[in-house]
Amino acid sequence: MNILFVGDVYGRTGRQMIEEYLPKLKSKFHPTVTIVNAENAAHGKGLTKKIYRQMLDAGADMLTMGNHTWDNREIFEFIDDAKQIVRPANFPEGTPGTGIRYVTLHHNLQVAVINIQGRVFLPPLDDPFRIVKQLVEEARKKTPIIFVDVHAETTSEKLALGWYLDGSVSAVIGTHTHIQTADERIFPQGTAYLTDVGMTGPYNGIIGVQRASVTKRFLTSMPVRFDSEEGPGQLSAVHIQINDKSGKATSINRILINDDHLFFD
Ligand SMILES: [Fe+2]
Repeated sequence: MNILFVGDVYGRTGRQMIEEYLPKLKSKFHPTVTIVNAENAAHGKGLTKKIYRQMLDAGADMLTMGNHTWDNREIFEFIDDAKQIVRPANFPEGTPGTGIRYVTLHHNLQVAVINIQGRVFLPPLDDPFRIVKQLVEEARKKTPIIFVDVHAETTSEKLALGWYLDGSVSAVIGTHTHIQTADERIFPQGTAYLTDVGMTGPYNGIIGVQRASVTKRFLTSMPVRFDSEEGPGQLSAVHIQINDKSGKATSINRILINDDHLFFD
């Protein structure tokens, strides 16, 4: 089986890239499961019910989230009923939503999708290491195929989680920094790893945001409003092949589509 994971969809440009390229990527790679990080899908902040539906209609089987999960209040009304969203599992107990869900492919094959959030340079949360370990143990009773989206700021925290989970999950893929890293690999015990998959959104912004506002903030330290940059888009993703029986990854390949990296089918 194989998984296509598309990185942080940011605003309208990100959604347009999904609509344009997800069908093309699906006909190229024939993913068994398609997962999309959508925490920035609504104007760079959170997710609405309409956009949740749009992402599923465009071909996503599961959406993952992150530190912007609650930025659009609409999500409080639908997250508990949304069977195709996972939010970071280490949010405090009693938080709406869940950090683990399963995609059922057929009777004997399920894929567990887990979302966790780092704690370095991000708001304090429960321990992602301990919580992910518990969830992985729970998931392994049902399936060896387990995908983990680690939404975190620092390379070290993501890499530590990757090594920590080596051999017990199929893939640990980082999100949140919006810049794709070039360190894809398969760890010795069979876990595919990438520090950050990158963003799907405006190519010429600063991690999605209008360049002028970000520059003004750096130059003046004044509060500025952050809107999405206009112009051409980018799509960042990763494709992972996994052995159905063992749950171990057999290949991992990065995908980057923008004006400097054209898509060829
Ligand atoms: Fe984030």
